[in-house]
Amino acid sequence: MRKIKVGMVGCGFAAHLHVDSFKKVKGIEVEVVEVASRTRQSSELFAKKHNIPRHYTDYRYLLENKAIDIVDVCVPNYLHKKVCVDSAKAGKHIICEKPLTGYFGEDLSESVEFVGTSVPKSKMYKKAVENADEIVETAKMNKVKLAYAEDLVYAPPVQKAKRLIRVSQGTILDMRAEESHSGSHASYSRTWKLSGGGALLRLGSHPLGVVIHLKNYEGIIKDKSPIRVKSVTAETGNLTHLPSFVKEKRKWVVSEWKDVEDWAAVFLTFEDGTKATVFSNDITLGGVVNTVDIYLSNSIIKCNMASNNSCKVYAPAPDIFGDEYLTEKLETKAGWNFPSPDEDWMRGYPHEMQDFIESVCCDRNPISDGELGKQVVQAAYAAYLSAEQGRTVKL
Ligand SMILES: NC(=O)c1ccc[n+]([C@@H]2O[C@H](COP(=O)([O-])OP(=O)(O)OC[C@H]3O[C@@H](n4cnc5c(N)ncnc54)[C@H](O)[C@@H]3O)[C@@H](O)[C@H]2O)c1
Repeated sequence: MRKIKVGMVGCGFAAHLHVDSFKKVKGIEVEVVEVASRTRQSSELFAKKHNIPRHYTDYRYLLENKAIDIVDVCVPNYLHKKVCVDSAKAGKHIICEKPLTGYFGEDLSESVEFVGTSVPKSKMYKKAVENADEIVETAKMNKVKLAYAEDLVYAPPVQKAKRLIRVSQGTILDMRAEESHSGSHASYSRTWKLSGGGALLRLGSHPLGVVIHLKNYEGIIKDKSPIRVKSVTAETGNLTHLPSFVKEKRKWVVSEWKDVEDWAAVFLTFEDGTKATVFSNDITLGGVVNTVDIYLSNSIIKCNMASNNSCKVYAPAPDIFGDEYLTEKLETKAGWNFPSPDEDWMRGYPHEMQDFIESVCCDRNPISDGELGKQVVQAAYAAYLSAEQGRTVKL
């Protein structure tokens, strides 16, 4: 079987997860041959660390390299559409990080700083769905695979849940899913212009992706047709703007949000009338919350991708475990903690890369594809519209 050659765009947090997972792909040789990022310093450092032969500050060099099969898009959200569309037109298969895209005020004057508070959500909803459509359609037209890097679709607990759902033949009546923590490390996440939204889009796209995927899956295994989202009701909030929080001197959660929300709750109703609730926020201390609870007509399945107690540790002081990683977004290593023995594995990163590489090699669709990415964008922006207008939005 031939070697698959990858060009990476971006070399920050997500890129590290991806490059480590490419190394774990079994049965097919994968080589990251080029990387592009915003600064020479960061691309050089990343290339050196991972033995990548060439590095650039302009991703278009990757598109000119005929040897590259896949472009892996790990840049801030506002750049996803441009890099994906250019890559598809250059005949490259695509792996795109979540969210697939959104609305970033691309049609506004440069001087508009706070897109999140300047544009009605009805317009954002329409534009975001158009952006998602453009990516999916360009990939289709150019006959390239579009893999949507929703790792939780591949997380071993979710894979197990899918096998149990299949044998149970039950109806998924209700799902309650959450991704929350104490705030993103990434500077681009503070403004709508770069991130396309706050906690709802940035964190909520994960649980939205999983619950939508699971109902799609139920429909396909039972009737060969995915069950999609029919309507969305939501609320959003800015809890770190509240006077009592602002007054506190010592901040434990990120509080530099500009025009993006730090809290969201979304209710989904599917075409068959069943429900899902998705929570996402940036005000949760104690490490990442990453759960999907599935209530079927004949069983219950609870998936927890973080804070599992397979390993439980105690230390009276935070320095006792030194530099050893425990788990994401933990404020202190003191006291009782639940280190993840293999966090990447638990969240499905190696599994998604295995599927994406196989999909290119075997010329089949990836399990998490552009269509799922589009459904997530639509649900998330319908939620923004619902929260703004105080009504249920029909998709
Ligand atoms: N699946 C996950 O669990 C997960 C986790 C974190 C981030 N993400 C997603 O990954 C993407 C990147 O987020 P991150 O946290 O890695 O951000 P980051 O800030 O850590 O890294 C962003 C990278 O993009 C590069 N970049 C910026 N502008 C560029 C340009 N014009 N051309 C080339 N490179 C450019 C930067 O140099 C940097 O290397 C986001 O879409 C985010 O939603 C996914």
